[in-house]
Amino acid sequence: MDWRQLHKNHIWWPFTQMKLAKEPIFVERGEGVYLFGKDSAGNTLQWIDAISSWWVSIYGHNHPKIKEALKKQIDQLEHVIFASFVHQPALELAQMLSEKTNHKLPKVFFSDDGSTAMEVAIKMAYQFFQNTGDITKKKFITLQNGYHGDTFGAMAVGARSEFHKVFEPLMFEIISVPMRYNSLEGLKNEELAKEELNDTIQTLEMLFENHYKETCAIVLEPLVQGAGGMLMYHPFLLKKIRDLCDYYNVLMICDEVFTGAGRLGSYFAFEQAGIVPDIIALSKGLSAGYATIAATLTNLRVFHGFYSEERKHTLFHGHSMTGNPLGCSVSIQSIKLYEELNVKQKIIEIENWHQEFMEDLKQSHKEKILNVRYYGSISALDVRVPEQKAKLFSLEVIDFSVKNGALLRPLGNTIYIVPPFIINKEELKKIYNVIYKVLQILL
Ligand SMILES: Cc1ncc(COP(=O)(O)O)c(C=O)c1O
Repeated sequence: MDWRQLHKNHIWWPFTQMKLAKEPIFVERGEGVYLFGKDSAGNTLQWIDAISSWWVSIYGHNHPKIKEALKKQIDQLEHVIFASFVHQPALELAQMLSEKTNHKLPKVFFSDDGSTAMEVAIKMAYQFFQNTGDITKKKFITLQNGYHGDTFGAMAVGARSEFHKVFEPLMFEIISVPMRYNSLEGLKNEELAKEELNDTIQTLEMLFENHYKETCAIVLEPLVQGAGGMLMYHPFLLKKIRDLCDYYNVLMICDEVFTGAGRLGSYFAFEQAGIVPDIIALSKGLSAGYATIAATLTNLRVFHGFYSEERKHTLFHGHSMTGNPLGCSVSIQSIKLYEELNVKQKIIEIENWHQEFMEDLKQSHKEKILNVRYYGSISALDVRVPEQKAKLFSLEVIDFSVKNGALLRPLGNTIYIVPPFIINKEELKKIYNVIYKVLQILL
């Protein structure tokens, strides 16, 4: 049967109102930052994966070294139950991840994706205090506009946006901190950052003081809130939160699902604040998009809250594919590439290119752009979308941008770039040219 008909008969896309969806693009292969395929009329297409396929493909597509690691592992062992048993890829990956935290978060709990890594983190924080005697500590503080995934726990600690509103009655209550963000200047200047974040900091202090007895953890995306609209803040805020957590005995959970694996330069975003959280969740870039795998890392304090003769102190959570050897082996290779390709340095270069290209864009389309920002490899601009175009804006941009050579997938009126780290300046420029056309033609 024709692929278009098969799509119509059987596919239900995530996050998509299927009735409003445009015709699908058929993807045939990927190479480096490029994807190749055809539209439903049969026209061949080639486009840059400007959002790293939902922020996972950090080394682009068809990377020879990652492929090699996968091939080698599949000849050896594709999967095995991961309780009572252990294997070389899981051991090696756990050790490498621990090392990336300077062994401050040495315990690694594997799962499948960002949402499950966050479910595990949430359960760990909650049960930690139940196990250790502070049984009133049951609530979570969260930052407004956060996103942590689509399973129930992850939804509950995220923003109650249009996405999740229908499920609200089924979610547990949270204490949400109204957020301010930093200007481009504020992102680079701690004193200015403090001033800009003053309201948020005061509210945080007040909420910790009023609620610490009933609060087990604060949950946050460090430095950049992705799905909330690429909203950015200075590392100073993380330092402040770490201090409050220490003072009030509240655990700090950093959701590094988006920001981890080098997206902001440092392997983890939290490093930039010179702090260490109690628990972190990692997925997406961990495997560079070659397998579904996630990890929740924690310190010894949390681990020892579960380490007991008592069966009821066990973390009763697990998934069939936990610790999958294929996922572990590609993740090991992905971490090696972080060093081999000197990603830290590369991200500085990418940020400089963002700065240059954003300036050009601002100059050419002042009246259509509300705000521009960038942090590490991420850049974003808020654009003025006329009311009558708002409902279909994102879908229009996806279709238009792919056909013009780079996939963009706006979040509301925010157009953003989250490129593979291997992108070069010329390729990044091509993405900005597509944004230029979006501003010129669609707005
Ligand atoms: C910060 C953050 N946490 C968690 C998730 C959920 O990850 P997944 O889609 O792999 O379940 C996402 C996904 O975008 C994310 O950005």
